[in-house]
Amino acid sequence: MNHILAIDQGTTSSRAIIFDANMKLVASAQEEFRQYYPASGLVEHAPADIWSTVAATCREAIERADIHAADIAAIGIANQRETALIWDRKTGRPIHKAIVWQDRRTADTCARLRDEGHEGFISSATGLILDPYFSATKIAWMLDNVDGARTLAEKGRLAFGTVDTYLIWRLTDGKSHVTDATNAARTMLYNIREGKWDEDICALLDIPMSLLPEVKDCAADFGMTRHDLFGREIPIFGVAGDQQAATVGQACFEPGMIKSTYGTGCFALLNTGDKFVKSESRMLSTIAYQMDGKPTYALEGSIFIAGAVVQWLRDGLKVIRHARETDALANAADREQTLYMVPAFTGLGAPYWDAECRGAIYGLTRNSGPAEFARAALQSVGYQTRDLLEAMHDDWGSHDSANILRVDGGMSANDWTMQFLADILGVPVDRPQVVETTALGAAWLAGSRAGLYPGLEEFASAWAVDRQFKPAMEEQTREKLYKGWKNAVQRTLGPI
Ligand code: G3P
Repeated sequence: MNHILAIDQGTTSSRAIIFDANMKLVASAQEEFRQYYPASGLVEHAPADIWSTVAATCREAIERADIHAADIAAIGIANQRETALIWDRKTGRPIHKAIVWQDRRTADTCARLRDEGHEGFISSATGLILDPYFSATKIAWMLDNVDGARTLAEKGRLAFGTVDTYLIWRLTDGKSHVTDATNAARTMLYNIREGKWDEDICALLDIPMSLLPEVKDCAADFGMTRHDLFGREIPIFGVAGDQQAATVGQACFEPGMIKSTYGTGCFALLNTGDKFVKSESRMLSTIAYQMDGKPTYALEGSIFIAGAVVQWLRDGLKVIRHARETDALANAADREQTLYMVPAFTGLGAPYWDAECRGAIYGLTRNSGPAEFARAALQSVGYQTRDLLEAMHDDWGSHDSANILRVDGGMSANDWTMQFLADILGVPVDRPQVVETTALGAAWLAGSRAGLYPGLEEFASAWAVDRQFKPAMEEQTREKLYKGWKNAVQRTLGPI
């Protein structure tokens, strides 16, 4: 039993990864699944798709690794966060499709709650901004809009879960209704100061507390898988929301350490240690991980469009065929032109939180073409990251933070973007040897609990850099460019 199976259940695909006793990736499998967009701003997943792609990729990864279930010491789970599911405890049947974190259907409810003056107490308990992004108003929506749901909920028949909870429920054949502190922290129902579900918020939103799962540490006993799934019961020993799992995988264990993951969007987390830092600059306060009953807090900045801007160059503008072409294009762009692209395709996330604004491009001339567009698109990722780091720095005060940024995720493979990131931040950017940090984080949580992997310090010292990007831009140029970006954002904010 010298392998760990990590499940990374993401927004657009499910992945399963096998790590060996030395935490080396042995094999992986990935399956995309259908996105449902029932109306503008609405995003849903079929729970059956989430489950079937996880089950299938687990089996495929085990086969590819050429191992048996008997070789797997434990399972670790990392998952898309906030996405909400409710199912019947008796039949196991979901009462509705999963409402995905990107779904904006509860924007009006959030606006009403804000108008009624509830944001202060919700934020101070949960660390979050009152926004449809989080699970709470999605749960209330299902209870209010699915026929018979409220009656069943009042009888204690319904269970709520984020994706980790739903997967564990299915993996254990309904024996475990559990989550971990990082996922609980994203529901907007969990008091991260006191480490418990918040009765007042539940009462305000009319959510019976009988729906809620038990909250555990990230490395804990979450239950045993059904025997027939893998031909053997396997313990689930690690769980974290995907961004928190990446923070662990990046070994950001010291206060002041920051990681930034570049997928479709970008999520930056700054470890603030045992301090809950209340943001004054519209960052989120959240739990980075919880071990031995002790939460480690983080400030988080979420950008909705990062890698997605490259997809737009490919699928929308059609100026590239492959993402890798952007490097060469950006290098070839005219140095005399300064274009700014504000990729507010679905509004802007932190620190602006403007759901109404839409994307814009500034500085066009008759000479502007695909190369200048590509460069502006890649630069937008750097500028947005700087927005986050500046806000975090304001909140975090005089500490020695933001002196190195650890990056991961698909877009971190783009050298041009990482160099620009270092230039515009004015701090070194470290890309680790293992860029599968989300899966690694989940695997380490499970493997350390299983006694297969080393403890926290040893894991942190094994973390190794693949390449460091050092800032090479002159201070004056850096500040001039960033000032232009701020100006572009100011012009973009507000409804179109
Ligand atoms: O908060 C949402 C985040 O957890 C989604 O991550 O990687 O599935 O897009 P990802």
